[in-house]
Amino acid sequence: SIDTIEGAKRKAAFQAVEEHFSNDMQFVGIGSGSTIIYGVEAIKAYLTKNPPKNDRYIFFIPTGFQSRKVIEQAGLMPMAFDSLPEKVMLDVAFDGADEVDDELNCIKGGGACLFQEKLVATRAKKFVCIADYRKNQARLMTKWPSIPIEVAPISHATVMRQLKLLGSVNPVLREHTLAKTGPVQTDQGFYIIDAPFKPLLTAKDVAEGKDGSGVDGVWDVHTLAHKIKAISGVLEVGLFFGPTGIEVQAAGGQGGQKPV
Ligand code: A5P
Repeated sequence: SIDTIEGAKRKAAFQAVEEHFSNDMQFVGIGSGSTIIYGVEAIKAYLTKNPPKNDRYIFFIPTGFQSRKVIEQAGLMPMAFDSLPEKVMLDVAFDGADEVDDELNCIKGGGACLFQEKLVATRAKKFVCIADYRKNQARLMTKWPSIPIEVAPISHATVMRQLKLLGSVNPVLREHTLAKTGPVQTDQGFYIIDAPFKPLLTAKDVAEGKDGSGVDGVWDVHTLAHKIKAISGVLEVGLFFGPTGIEVQAAGGQGGQKPV
């Protein structure tokens, strides 16, 4: 039920913040979507009890318009990504995900943010992904139907053709639900293509000898992400890699138990 799902998101968010946030941090990334709202609620609750010492500010770096509003509405201090001092790394970045696999690779972009999310995530010493039990799957593309891809408007038709050549049967340009208002535009003024693929193999699958090179449309996460990223006109692909350099907190376990 909705209550169970929202409860799981909130529980995951409070646990993630308890384990990975503290008041001596200086720069903290805040992602996009509905789950991160609970993350900011948890940060706010923590800081109300444990304010930073000596009136220090903690700066919160948003991943888009919605994210910035969430930060502001909580009374926290936003700082634009491109205002970060050159050598600064974020202490931690929190964000949601659409699906998370056994190796903590994620599909992201269900809410049309992904480029700025990846910018912020890769600038952080630690990336903590807050995800409820529904999103925890052995392989990506198990329940979540497609990979979001952010493209330059002028290239959307050619990118879709290339995606079909990679085996995506029916990639679609994301439109507003009121279709007459046209394509969804990202914070960059780009479009989103949602490209379905067969379930994506993990690195472990490949190590065990499964073929993820695209034969019969079967890809492994890393190969497919690189192929899509290499298409001219693609700004970013909504596939985030697990802990090669960034730590992603496991989904599911943090989100309470599956309802029975
Ligand atoms: C935004 O485009 C996404 O990457 C979100 O982080 C992701 O869609 C998770 O959103 P929810 O928390 O609303 O499920």
